[in-house]
Amino acid sequence: MKMRKIACLTPAVAGLMLLTACGQGGGDAGDEASGASGENATAALPNGMTVQEQIEARQKKLENIGGAFKTISDQLKSDSPDVAAIQTAAATVPAEATGMADWFPEGTGPDSGVETEALAIIWQEKEDFLSKISDMQNAAATLNTTAQGGDVAAIGEAFKATGGTCKACHDKFRLDD
Ligand code: HEC
Repeated sequence: MKMRKIACLTPAVAGLMLLTACGQGGGDAGDEASGASGENATAALPNGMTVQEQIEARQKKLENIGGAFKTISDQLKSDSPDVAAIQTAAATVPAEATGMADWFPEGTGPDSGVETEALAIIWQEKEDFLSKISDMQNAAATLNTTAQGGDVAAIGEAFKATGGTCKACHDKFRLDD
C-alpha cells in the first residue's frame, strides 16, 4: 500500500493532520495522550451514575465477592471448617453478583480516566464476556445450594468449579496484577 508523501511536505497540512496523515512510524503518538486525563470520570451514564461511580460500585461488589471467596477458601483449608461461615459466605457470592451484566456499560473501560482493571476487550467481545458472567452466576448458585447442604467435600468441588469461572474471565478480561 503506497502513501503519497506529498501531504507530509506541506507544513500546514502536516500540522493539521497531526502525524497520522504521514503514516509510517509515528502515527500512533497522538493517541497515547488522550483518554487518561480523567475528564470522563464525571460523565453521566444512561443508568444515571457517573463513570466513576459505576466503576467504584462494581469494584466494591467484586471486592465483597473476593472477600467471601477467601472466607470459603480459608475454611476449606482448615482442619475443622466452620460450615456456618462457609454458608454465609457462599450466600454472599450470588447475591453480590446479581446484575453483574449491567456493571460494564460503554465508557467505563481503560479510556475512562478512572483506575480500572477492566480491559478494552470486554467491549470488543461483549458476548463472550456476558456468557462468562452467566457461567460464574450459575456456578455460584450451585455453590450456594451445595454449601447449605453442609457436605464439606461437595462444597470443595463446587468451590473449585466456581473459582474456575472467575479465572476464565480474569485471564482474558481483567488486567494482570
Ligand atoms: C465475566 C468476568 C468476570 C468474572 C466471571 C469475575 N470477575 Fe472478578 N473482575 C472482573 C473484572 C473486569 C475486574 C476489574 C474491575 C474493575 O477494576 O473495574 C474484576 C475484579 C475483581 C476483583 C478486584 C476488585 C477491586 O477492584 O478491588 C476481585 C477481588 C474479583 N474480581 C474477584 C472475583 C471472583 C472471586 C470471581 C468469581 C466468583 C470473579 N471475580 C468473577 C471480571 C470478572
